[in-house]
Amino acid sequence: MLKSTSQTYGNAARFLHWSSAILILTMIPMGIAMTRIADGSVKSTLYLIHVNLGLVVLLLTALRVLWRFIEPSPSLPTGLSPARQWLFKAVHTGQYLFLIGLIITGIGTFMATGPLASGIPETAALTLPAAHSLLSKVFMGLLVAHLTGIVQYQLTKGDVLTRMGFPKALLKNIPAKTTFGKE
Ligand code: HEM
Repeated sequence: MLKSTSQTYGNAARFLHWSSAILILTMIPMGIAMTRIADGSVKSTLYLIHVNLGLVVLLLTALRVLWRFIEPSPSLPTGLSPARQWLFKAVHTGQYLFLIGLIITGIGTFMATGPLASGIPETAALTLPAAHSLLSKVFMGLLVAHLTGIVQYQLTKGDVLTRMGFPKALLKNIPAKTTFGKE
């Protein structure tokens, strides 16, 4: 099933979600490590991989944003209080906005400090990496909020993971109490 329904995500949305998640979860420790180790071939290789994976994430994010216009996402998980519904939407939107900010400042950092940099004002070479680093920290906070919300819902209210394609077999010991539909 390519397309999402009001109950569940389709294969296209699932693919875009999990491929972005794997890449981003690889890029965060890589980014932290590469900016803290001594100069050398390992550091340069990590930079090169980080920048290239970042460009793949850029492509996947553009497709995800486009895909949201092509088909609506499923309705919110049921049983959330109004405050939780607001939080769910705020964390979701924040993740998109900060991801886009990370991609822009990441490309800016590469242009201002990488091998292609020439004639770039010194302020740009200082501010862009600092902005990228700050955004990455806020993004990590949003990621923790996202994961906490999902796990908490899964454990206390019902199955929210399989509608994003998470393998059912891995959840067999966790009771699913809720189905999804419009509130
Ligand atoms: C897709 C999401 C991205 C995530 C989650 C991410 C994450 C990170 C993290 C955690 C750091 C280390 C920051 C620090 O503490 O100093 C970093 C550094 C860096 N990232 Fe990204 N990044 C992303 C996208 C990109 C993109 C698209 C590019 C370029 C095309 C890029 C280029 C860089 C560069 C050049 C640095 C080194 C900055 C410095 O030298 O201080 N990043 N990234």
